[in-house]
Amino acid sequence: MAIVLAIETSCDETAAAIVNNCHVCSSVVSSQISLHRQYGGVVPEMASREHVAIVNAAISQAMQSAHLNWSEIDGIAVTSAPGLVGALLVGLSAAKTLAVLHHKPFLGVHHLEGHIYASYLTDPTLQPPFLCLLVSGGHTSLIFVKNCGDYETLGQTRDDAAGEAFDKVARLLDLGYPGGPAIDLLAAQGNPQRFPLPEGQISLPGGVYHPYDTSFSGLKTAVLRLVQKLEQTGQVPLPVADLAASFQAAVVRALTRRAIACALDYGLGTIVVGGGVAANRGLRQQLQQAAALHNLHVLFPPMQFCTDNAAMIACAAADHLNRGHCSPLTLGVQSRLAI
Ligand code: KG4
Ligand code: ZN
Repeated sequence: MAIVLAIETSCDETAAAIVNNCHVCSSVVSSQISLHRQYGGVVPEMASREHVAIVNAAISQAMQSAHLNWSEIDGIAVTSAPGLVGALLVGLSAAKTLAVLHHKPFLGVHHLEGHIYASYLTDPTLQPPFLCLLVSGGHTSLIFVKNCGDYETLGQTRDDAAGEAFDKVARLLDLGYPGGPAIDLLAAQGNPQRFPLPEGQISLPGGVYHPYDTSFSGLKTAVLRLVQKLEQTGQVPLPVADLAASFQAAVVRALTRRAIACALDYGLGTIVVGGGVAANRGLRQQLQQAAALHNLHVLFPPMQFCTDNAAMIACAAADHLNRGHCSPLTLGVQSRLAI
């Protein structure tokens, strides 16, 4: 068992990929960004319809680029949770049909588990235990990875996810959708020290802060107030590069501090980063630097596998299938599901 075809349709990317364990044979990602951009975010019904329109082409293209035929595929996997229900159902139906048609083992994969496994595409020799800092549009979590399928969430966001905060602040600054890449680019030209912004702390009884949980809604409001003040005092056009750099620095500081503290407290020598925000250049740089000071090893997925893709789902599935795990064909989808 090694060669796995996976399909990912949990949100706004229609993706299909084939991996041979941690080696990517082919990866097709068709983004719906241009479709949703005019609405400033993903419209679920439109996402489902677009997945229906192109999922078959994505699968065919993945098969063709890998130069494989169906007899060489050992298993079929799909993201089954969490995500948009209608969108997930498209991938699930396609995967089940292929599994039945070609008599292959079938496996539903948790989307976040896929993001954890994206770093195996950088380093196939990676071994648990390690800490995963999972930062995407829907999640911000610190996950203790004990083994394949054995995860414990040690910290999470109490409100907005890191990627969501990037998207909301980008909208505020009129930078378009999705906001993460736009802020990342602008921040590189700005002064991160110009506007001191709160990192967002969760207070606990006794006057202490939660060591691993994050909160980004206060930071988002602080940027809004700052923008209003700048506009009222006639500082237009807004200094968007400095605003982007200051905001990004606050998010990166919050994530870096918690990830390092958590790794040290739990005696974990490796921090693996996953999710769309793992593509952020500020985070990549700061976390590497901070980790080096504590002799911690940091691993990021290859750039193209930070945001949603099917190769990471296939990679997670290969590990499960190699252990004899598979799912019943009665498996359904779930919009919310803890890892
Ligand atoms: O993992 P992902 O593709 O989808 C979810 O599972 O949510 O993550 C998408 C999120 C978006 O919020 C996007 O703005 C953010 O990742 N993102 C970034 C960057 N690239 C994507 N955030 C900061 N810097 C980036 N370079
Ligand atoms: Zn994702």
